[in-house]
Amino acid sequence: MEEIQRVERQVEEAIGQATSTLDLREIELKFLGKSGELTGLMRGIGKLSPEERPSFGAALNEAKDRLQALLDSRAAEFKSGERSAQFAAEKIDPTLPGRIPRAGREHVLQQAFNNIKRAMGSMGFVYYDGPELEHFKYNFDALNYPPDHPAMDAQDTFYVTDDLVLRTQCTAIQGRVFEEVKPPFRYFTVGRTYRNEAVDRTHSHTFHQIDVFMVDEGISMAHLKGTLGAFAREMFGDDVKVRFRPDFFPFVEPGVDYAISSPKLFNGKWVELGGAGLIHPNILERYGIDSERYSGFAFGLGADRIPMMAYGIDDLRNFLENDFRFLEQFA
Ligand code: FA5
Repeated sequence: MEEIQRVERQVEEAIGQATSTLDLREIELKFLGKSGELTGLMRGIGKLSPEERPSFGAALNEAKDRLQALLDSRAAEFKSGERSAQFAAEKIDPTLPGRIPRAGREHVLQQAFNNIKRAMGSMGFVYYDGPELEHFKYNFDALNYPPDHPAMDAQDTFYVTDDLVLRTQCTAIQGRVFEEVKPPFRYFTVGRTYRNEAVDRTHSHTFHQIDVFMVDEGISMAHLKGTLGAFAREMFGDDVKVRFRPDFFPFVEPGVDYAISSPKLFNGKWVELGGAGLIHPNILERYGIDSERYSGFAFGLGADRIPMMAYGIDDLRNFLENDFRFLEQFA
């Protein structure tokens, strides 16, 4: 009996010192569990006289029940404290601003290309998509470049094999189209072009061009000027003017380069955009088109220049760097 009381006091003391449900669990295992000390006393029952046994068993069970109840009530107290500590640790602040997920959007160049496609499409030009890895013959031969002509030097070319190059100009689609269709026709493309250039704010090894051409009876420089003017007004607004100056490209005769000016852009200064002209009769004849009956115009320009001018972007390297701080400005 004394032994029971001793263990009981020990357990009460331990419970008094416990500070967490974990401590209580240890006490429970140590004293009340299957191999616990209090349970162990039961084994001593055999040494008692038969008269003593019932009262000893009853006292032991009572002690067990009382201690278990004490443990449970302490555990309940700890549990509520521990829960609130856990809640405090895991607390969320619903007043914090949310994290806004980054939404995808079209690249500023893609937005410009879509505008270009709309503008040319509305004038009856059909979109044609040519390959960026192009046969030498479409990039140069078909465009009336004589073999080894110095005009090719203006377009320092990346060769992949002797026959395949990264196209240096979107005019390379001309030969492909001429092989497939008979006049009258109007085509255009927008796409990537490559030249081995020293990179600076206005030149890149990888850039984009628009190329446009049409062939019909009686096409003259007036049609070229009208079409380019309409295109430029679509891109830059109604105040824009187009200026031509003589220039040389093997695939046009006469050839010009052209500039635009608008009071809203670059203080009204003239800005060169690209080259143009009437399609060389040699090209028409090469594809079996009677150059006495048909004529055509062609123009090409740097597509990167359009958003550069429209938004006042002074470095075209921004287009390829994928810096969100730049791209996010163009919604
Ligand atoms: C041509 O590429 C001719 N195919 C244009 C043409 C088409 C003329 C049809 C006649 C008829 P050019 O090499 O000048 O021409 O390039 C045209 C435009 O592409 C340039 O005015 C410029 O706006 C852009 N461009 C050329 N090289 C680069 C470069 N490295 N980086 C960015 N833009 C460039």
